[in-house]
Amino acid sequence: MTTFGRIFQVSLFGESHGPHVGIVIDGCPAGMPLDETDFATDLERRKSGKQGTTKRVETDAPTLASGIFNGRTTGAPLTIWFNNEQADSSWYDANKDMARPGHSDFAAFKKFGGHNDYRGGGQFSGRLTVGLVAAGVIAKKIVSPALIEANLLEVGGSVDIQQAVRQAEAQGDSIGGLVECIASGLPVGLGEPFFDSVESLIAHAVFAIPAVKGIEFGAGFASVRMTGSQCNDSIRSASGASATNHAGGISGGITNGNDLLFRVAIKPTSSIAIPQTTINMKTGEQAILDIQGRHDSCIALRIAPVVEAVCAIVLADLLLIAHLRPRIWK
Ligand SMILES: Cc1cc2nc3c(=O)[nH]c(=O)nc-3n(C[C@H](O)[C@H](O)[C@H](O)COP(=O)(O)O)c2cc1C
Repeated sequence: MTTFGRIFQVSLFGESHGPHVGIVIDGCPAGMPLDETDFATDLERRKSGKQGTTKRVETDAPTLASGIFNGRTTGAPLTIWFNNEQADSSWYDANKDMARPGHSDFAAFKKFGGHNDYRGGGQFSGRLTVGLVAAGVIAKKIVSPALIEANLLEVGGSVDIQQAVRQAEAQGDSIGGLVECIASGLPVGLGEPFFDSVESLIAHAVFAIPAVKGIEFGAGFASVRMTGSQCNDSIRSASGASATNHAGGISGGITNGNDLLFRVAIKPTSSIAIPQTTINMKTGEQAILDIQGRHDSCIALRIAPVVEAVCAIVLADLLLIAHLRPRIWK
């Protein structure tokens, strides 16, 4: 499904090399002040053009096509789209039968009987995350005064980000990265036991981001090696504030008054400039694939605002479900 959320519901549309990509947001409170300039900062953070990112640089100018009147949201579904102006499909057209190892090509070809748009990964492209970032800007307004901030901690196993990226690029290779996200100032009590736990919903939304391969909350996998006395967060105030935050701000699936904290593992980009063995999907024969075209050599460099966005989308929905945010802006 390309739709997520209960009240604050987002639906992605478009393909990497189609005319545009975008998002429809239903359930946004009416009366929220909103215009194109609100999106500038977060869209800029996701943009390509810097070292380690693709040379396909789109303007990423949002078109607010519905749900806005007189500079405020109307309560009707918001449609936001972005034109694809810099797509170049020539390499994909010439190699459409070749499955890029690590990419969606093979699985998508099988699932959709070859009808999927193969150009630039079609609907599986990281290009679609521009719509998520746009929805995140609106969700952050709902979540405010709580703050959400994600940062890139390391890439390719190194905290020297520039150097690791330079080295990978020099080798025609790619690297992954680790992003940490913290949401502070949340009320106690968001989330529901079991299937709508905050962990479940955040993980659900975070795994919608292409190239994400792991998530951990608080101490996460390190808690496996802790004892209970080391892992337990000693509660120090009536507001629930604890001395440590190994739980990542979630107890029983519910926010506990401490910072919500999670880390996301992003894999190395699959499209690399090193020849790889694959198959021709039409003939079934093995072949050597030499990928050209424009690619991010380190997707993690662009992903922090996307992680913030999906976190904000989940939290906005939970706040609206819990009636902790108004349905109408004053
Ligand atoms: C912001 C962003 C940019 C991306 N750029 C590329 C890219 O340039 N080349 C590529 O092969 N994959 C890129 N990806 C990853 C693919 O979209 C992803 O690996 C593919 O859809 C398969 O999904 P999976 O890795 O989750 O299995 C990007 C992902 C994101 C979030």
